[in-house]
Amino acid sequence: MSLGLSRGKKLITEGYGIELSDLPGYDVDDPESSRIDPRKWFQDYERHFEIEIGSGKGTFLVQQAGLQRDVNYLGIEKAGEFYRYAADRMRRRELENVRILRADATEFIRFRCPPGVTQVIHLYFSDPWPKKRHHKRRVIQDESLRQFHRVLTSGGELRLVTDHDDLWAWYEDHAARHGDLFERRVFVAPDSAEDGELVGTNYERKFTHEGRPFHAMVLKKT
Ligand SMILES: C[S@@+](CC[C@H](N)C(=O)[O-])C[C@H]1O[C@@H](n2cnc3c(N)ncnc32)[C@H](O)[C@@H]1O
Repeated sequence: MSLGLSRGKKLITEGYGIELSDLPGYDVDDPESSRIDPRKWFQDYERHFEIEIGSGKGTFLVQQAGLQRDVNYLGIEKAGEFYRYAADRMRRRELENVRILRADATEFIRFRCPPGVTQVIHLYFSDPWPKKRHHKRRVIQDESLRQFHRVLTSGGELRLVTDHDDLWAWYEDHAARHGDLFERRVFVAPDSAEDGELVGTNYERKFTHEGRPFHAMVLKKT
C-alpha cells in the first residue's frame, strides 16, 4: 500500500468499496447472463441512481451524496490508491447512499451493466491522454458513447467537464457525430458545487488555483 494519499493511516474500504473479485465471474459463453445490476448494491435500490467515472479522491461523490440523501451514487475508479481513499472517506462520513467500484468503468459498463440502469453518468476532468497514439485510452470513444447511451435511462444525461482544450475538441467532435444518440445541452452545476464552481472536484479546485478555464456540456439521451 502506498502511504502517499493515506499519510500512513489505514484505509478501510469495507462496506463501501467493491472489487471485481467480489462479483460473480464473467462467462464468455453467456455474456448476457453475466450482467450485474449495480443498483442492487444499495439497500434502497429503487432510488434514482447515478454513476461517476474516474472519481479520484471521491470529493464530488461525498459532497453530492451528503446533500442528496435520496439518490444513490456509484463511483467507478480504476486506480487502487484512489479507490481505497474514496471508500474510506465514504465510510468515515457514514453515507449509506454511495459506493465505489474498483474497475475500468468503460469495461464494466460495456460488459457487465444491463441497459437503462442509470439516470446520470458524470465524467469530470478525465485524463486527457494528449499524445495522438494514446487517444484510444480516452474514456470517450464511439463505442463508449454507444454503451453509455445503452445504460442510461430514457432522457438520461452524460455530464462532461474538462480543462483540456484538445480533449474538449474531441468531446465536441464525438457529440456532433453521435447526434442520433445524444442532444447537447447546457451544463448546470450540481447543488454541491460551491459559488463559481462547475462541480467542485479535487482537480477543478487545483486547476482553479492555476487560473485555468474550463469547458462543460451535457449530452442528453435522445
Ligand atoms: C484526472 S483524475 C480526475 C479525478 C476527479 N474526477 C477529479 O476531478 O478530481 C482522473 C481519474 O480517472 C480515473 N480513471 C481514468 N480512466 C478510468 C476508467 N476507464 N475507469 C475508471 N477510472 C478511470 C483515474 O484513475 C483518475 O483517478
